[in-house]
Parts: sequence; structure tokens; C-alpha cells
Amino acid sequence: MARLVIVSNRVPDPAELAGPRAGGLAVGLADALTPGTLWFGWSGSRAKQTTSEPVCVESGGLTYATIDLGDADYRAFYLGFSNGTLWPLFHMMPSFTAFDRAEYAVYRVVNHAFAAALLPLLRPDDLIWIHDYQLLGVAAALRAQGVTNRIGFFLHIPFPAPALYEILPPAAELLAGMLAQDVIGFHTERDRAHFLGAVNAVLGIGATADSTITHEGHVTQAIVTPIGIDADAFTAQAIRASRRVATKRMIDSLAGRALMIGVDRLDYTKGLPARFDAYSRFLSNYPEHRRHISFLQVAAPSREEVDRYRALREELDHKTGAINGAYSDFDWVPLRYMTRTVSRALIAGFYRTARIGLVTPLRDGMNLVAKEYVAAQNPADPGVLVLSRFAGAAAGLPEALLVNPFDIDAVAEAINAALVMPLEERQSRHVALLGRVRAESASAYCQAFTAALWGEH
Ligand code: G6P
Repeated sequence: MARLVIVSNRVPDPAELAGPRAGGLAVGLADALTPGTLWFGWSGSRAKQTTSEPVCVESGGLTYATIDLGDADYRAFYLGFSNGTLWPLFHMMPSFTAFDRAEYAVYRVVNHAFAAALLPLLRPDDLIWIHDYQLLGVAAALRAQGVTNRIGFFLHIPFPAPALYEILPPAAELLAGMLAQDVIGFHTERDRAHFLGAVNAVLGIGATADSTITHEGHVTQAIVTPIGIDADAFTAQAIRASRRVATKRMIDSLAGRALMIGVDRLDYTKGLPARFDAYSRFLSNYPEHRRHISFLQVAAPSREEVDRYRALREELDHKTGAINGAYSDFDWVPLRYMTRTVSRALIAGFYRTARIGLVTPLRDGMNLVAKEYVAAQNPADPGVLVLSRFAGAAAGLPEALLVNPFDIDAVAEAINAALVMPLEERQSRHVALLGRVRAESASAYCQAFTAALWGEH
């Protein structure tokens, strides 16, 4: 059988894969992580220069091969073009998008360096699966080196509307590079439609009815394969976690109040300032709920060297102070705000305890917190998921309370609706949602994508 080669900017630390911190891409790819698989990418470490010889570590039958990024490359490729240009633009936030031609040049160089370092490790029948916006140019670089293997790519973030995508100065070059792949996967129909629209608008190439594109004689298929989780495993984890001392301490601290929970990376796409404003509006408009709810927001710091992220942190510190200053009582704090990473294993127990899961990104590729929150619930007394219409997850979770995160009043209303929702309605929504989370699973994702990569789609 052909070997699978996964290529992503971040590569998990094999020591953490089985542990409580494991999360991210490794969750969605769990089924693909079978013995023999090679996972290639950035080590997460920095060096003077980007290294060209991968360091290989064997663990659990898998090989992890990583290179270090040079300091200047880290700044221009990672902080610069990837996270200062592509990230905000693809999340349709053009006013947050900066472009610097020199940074883009480095992005290209680093994508070529990834391809060059991977090349000696490749076998002729390997299936290559590249992930996310940091690596849009790797496939074209591999093709330029003569690689003829099947290559697939999955975009984990949204693809922007064509009119926004066109803002990108190298719009045409990046799209043409992406079309060096045989398969390109998206979370939702909307993302695929945006991509096909951009190919048409920028390159003047139309897609066939089954979403294939022919560019310079090469055929690329665009598919929709939403990523998921292993719901049953997460339910079991939540049940285990709910018996832990830490979860009991959390429950005791609530003193019978309803818990509302949000868990996000500290990122401006997650809509945290608007979420805090909505909570404040809720406390103001529904005084009967004051003292009866506690909102826990866990926000793991991220990309702190990018100015926007620092500014966001300051803004949230300020809003937290304003909300707690205005509404706290001597024995009640309305908002608990933590800016550190809490292990996924512990969070699972908090989700199970929480009466409301508040997931309100302004724009999100998928958002697995929404799925994890559903899987963690106790079916006899489930909580309510309040979910942004602009998260990819919303396409597959219509029984959640779907909200427009830009509409502060609507989010405040949804929090109230969730709190007063009768048990029967909570149960019927939960049954439907759990069925969907179980069906749109991590293994369905891996199977659908690899089948397409094999040419079986
Ligand atoms: C998102 C992206 C990933 C990225 C992750 C963490 O989920 O889709 O590609 O790895 O955020 O961000 P970081 O910049 O720390 O890798």
C-alpha cells in the first residue's frame, strides 16, 4: 500500500500526541496516523538559517521529519505573509491585511525550502497531503523538482469571496500554484464556491459541473470534506474528566449557577471583544439572570509577536475589567477570563458541566470546539450550543442556536434563549447535533480525503 506523507507547518510533538495536550490537526488526522506514515514540517524551533536536512524521529510507527526556521524566515514567512497577510484576508478582514512584497518573496523561498527538504524522503508511490495556508506553494515547488506523485491539499481556514481574494497582489501566482495539486479540499460548499469563483475571476478558468479545473493540462478536483472529531472518544474523555478533582472544584465554585464557556485561541477572528460586549448587553438587558450565570472564557495566547494580537489582548483585559467592575458582587464574579492553555482533557469536563457553549467567531474555517462541546454533553441534561453562522461548523450543525456574531443584541438574546430553554428542547436539539457530530467525524474526513487523493472520489 502507498505511504501517506502529511505536510503541515506545525508538526505535533510525538511525546504530546498521546497526552492531555494533544489537539489541533492531530485530532482530525487520527485515522491517517497509521504506522508507516511520514509527517513533515516545521519543528517549531528557530535557528540562524532555515535548515535543509530534516531531523527524523520515529514514534508509534510514524516518522516525524522536521526542519527549523531561520529567524528572518520566521518573521517574514510565518509572522509576515502567512499571519499578517493570508490569515486576515482569508478570514475576510481586509482592513487587517498588510502586504509586503519582500515578505511574500520569503514565503515563496520557504515553501521551496520545505519542498527541497522533503524531496529526498519521498518514494515514487507516496500520497502527499499538504495542509493549510502557510504552504500554498509547496506542491508547485515539488512539481518543479519533477515530483509526479498524487498531491492533495486541504485548506483549514475559509477561502475568501473572490472580490476579496483579488486584493492579494500575487493572487494569480498563488492560485496557479495551488492548481499543481490533484485534489484541493475545503470544509464547506461556500469555501469551495469562493475558490472556484476566484479561479474564474483571476485566472479566467471555469470549473466543470463536478468541480474539476484544468490548468496547463493538469486536472485538479475541488472537494468538500469537513474535518471532525472522534465523538465517542471525546464523550468518554468528558465523562472521565467530570470525575476529576479539578472539575469538582469548578462545580463547587459555581455554587449552583449556570456555567457558560468559551474556549479559543486568542485571535481576532474569534470575535472575543464582540462576545464580551454581548455578554455585557445580556447582563444589562436580562437583570433576572445576574448572579445566576458565570461565564468562563479560556483564551490561549497565540502569535504574540504580531501587533494585532497584542492589541487584542489589551482590549480584552480592559473589557474584562469593565464587565466585572460594573456587575460583580462581593460573592459573584460574572466573567472568569483565563489567558493560558488548559488541557483538552480537563476542558472536556468543563464542557460537560457548561449549560451554554458560546462559539461566536467572526469567521472560522470549521471550529472543532463546537463539535467537542456537543460530544461532551450529558444526553439526560444537555447544554445548548450558541454558534456563529460564520463558522464552518454551522453548515453541519443547524440545530445549534445560530447567531450573527456582529449583532450584539442577537447574541445576548441567544444567551437568554439558551438559559430558559426547556429540557425537552435541549434534548431534542442535542440528539440531532450529536448524530451529526458522530457522522461528520475525523475518520469520515480522512477517508473521504484520502479516497479522493487515490482518485476514487
Ligand atoms: C489555525 C490554523 C493552523 C495553525 C493553528 C495554530 O488552526 O488553521 O494552521 O497551525 O491555527 O496557529 P499557529 O500560528 O500557532 O500555528
